[in-house]
Amino acid sequence: MLIFYVGQYLKNKTLSEILDIKKLNEINKPIEAANGLPNECYTNQDYLKYERDNVFCHKWAVVGVGSSIQNVGDTKPYNLLGIPLILIRDKDMKIRVFHNVCSHRGFKLLNEACNLKNVIRCPYHYWSYDFKGNLVATPHIGGLNIHQSEKFDKTKNNLKEVKTKIWMDIIFVNINSNEIEFEEYIKPLEERWSKFISKDDQKLIVHSNDYGYFNLEVKSNWKFAIENYCESYHLPTIHPELNKVSNINDHYHIQGLPNRFAGQGSKKYEQPVKGNKKFKTFPNWNKDMLKNSEYIALFPNVMIGLHIDHFYVFWLEPTAINKTREHMQIYYIGNYSANGEELKDLRKENSRFWKDVMLEDVSAIEGMQNGRNSPVYNGGNFSPVMDQPTHQFHKWVANSLLDSN
Ligand code: FES
Ligand SMILES: [Fe+2]
Repeated sequence: MLIFYVGQYLKNKTLSEILDIKKLNEINKPIEAANGLPNECYTNQDYLKYERDNVFCHKWAVVGVGSSIQNVGDTKPYNLLGIPLILIRDKDMKIRVFHNVCSHRGFKLLNEACNLKNVIRCPYHYWSYDFKGNLVATPHIGGLNIHQSEKFDKTKNNLKEVKTKIWMDIIFVNINSNEIEFEEYIKPLEERWSKFISKDDQKLIVHSNDYGYFNLEVKSNWKFAIENYCESYHLPTIHPELNKVSNINDHYHIQGLPNRFAGQGSKKYEQPVKGNKKFKTFPNWNKDMLKNSEYIALFPNVMIGLHIDHFYVFWLEPTAINKTREHMQIYYIGNYSANGEELKDLRKENSRFWKDVMLEDVSAIEGMQNGRNSPVYNGGNFSPVMDQPTHQFHKWVANSLLDSN
């Protein structure tokens, strides 16, 4: 009997054992009749594992940015809800992602960010891999001082590489290699943004080394950050200062089809200025839309902000069902704006501005997390006018789950 129960416990649960599938189908109703995702999607451990394997691993998910591994040999471990990965920049400056596990006895290869000279060396028996993941050394594999074995084929034991694509410095991975090609995946957004930036303009962004990064630890499921980012409805209540310069009516909804992204745009963006100093701007920005800025969540886990004079990547590292680390990376157009001494104060202010806004949002998303412990909550309702992009994200999650079922 005990064995039976232990077996039940260890087995991965199916979606229908975790939540009521009917509730997922109902999210696809018209917005005025739809309820949102059920509580289990925010509170249940079995759900978290299911979501990792069937959403994060199936999709193009974000695990970092290229500028955090700028030099050849720069290496970082990343933990995707328990799946250990390695991010590395190889000798051709290409970013690669590998599963962080030695092919020999399964030792976890890397625990800290570092710069490696030539190889990723396993601390256990010193098997070593080059930066392309090839197994290049197997010391004493055939006995003392015998480093080869004809019974062992090195070429079949390289590191396992993850399908990876870099777009605007963002590192996307598709762990299960089953998503559509990234170029096709990102095309609807690139077409939308072609009125602001060309493909060549994408290459102009430079990460700021001084005020280009901060992170926030949030006691909330990652999805609440996306849901909140998709709507401008909360501007008057959560961001009263921002609301004075850019209110709900200055915003518009963004809903990508096919459903891969959603968010909001503003028509009242004002470039930061100090004295007569301003950041450089994108060269091909539509002249009739100089004050437009767009805030888009690219599902599942990255929120991006495009302005005429800067770009940011606010990406989410889920760390538990109710915990998320938010990483903010800020970019400017060209190195003068990103790293020049003259604009340092302006960068500091801009970073502070975004940090204050994102801190205000923390109270919103933690409040939703706390509410989800209520057994009577039914997924809630959407404003038929103000919550359309948020509803779009719920549909994306629900349909991703239904497709995997
Ligand atoms: S486990 Fe890595 S070398 Fe043995
Ligand atoms: Fe907000």
